[in-house]
Amino acid sequence: MTSILVLHGPNLNLLGTREPEIYGATTLPEIDAGLRDQGAAAGAQVRCLQSNHEGALIDALQQAATNGTHAVVFNAGGFTHTSVALRDAIVACGLPVIEVHLSNVAAREEFRRVSLIAPVVVGSIAGFGRDSYRLGLEAALAVLRRTD
Ligand code: DQA
Repeated sequence: MTSILVLHGPNLNLLGTREPEIYGATTLPEIDAGLRDQGAAAGAQVRCLQSNHEGALIDALQQAATNGTHAVVFNAGGFTHTSVALRDAIVACGLPVIEVHLSNVAAREEFRRVSLIAPVVVGSIAGFGRDSYRLGLEAALAVLRRTD
């Protein structure tokens, strides 16, 4: 069975109450439940994990490389703009990774316009609120189905 890891970085556990005008009112458990349902409808198992710690996110990527995970949907949160180590972990895991952001990072502060992980992911989806995750999972499944 296709296995997808959805990885959420720092502060995303606060979704629902954290700057709802930017990130929306949906909570992380609600987003995760929707992704699990979406995956099940497509015959895929979706596992979701959130951590505020860079090292735990790196551990999760390293484990994904060997535990049968086929692709990763990753919102690295603020680490997107700072973490060479996460970028290296994405490359090292050898899996297709889809970068997602709830907000349109290109339309926000200057420092958010730089993503250190963008060059090493399959593609990036940003600005669609919770739908960014839905589209990210759809993209991951499409990448795995790709034959051309
Ligand atoms: C975010 C955008 C980041 O710049 C920010 O630090 C986050 C959330 C998003 O989903 O829009 O924590 O990744």
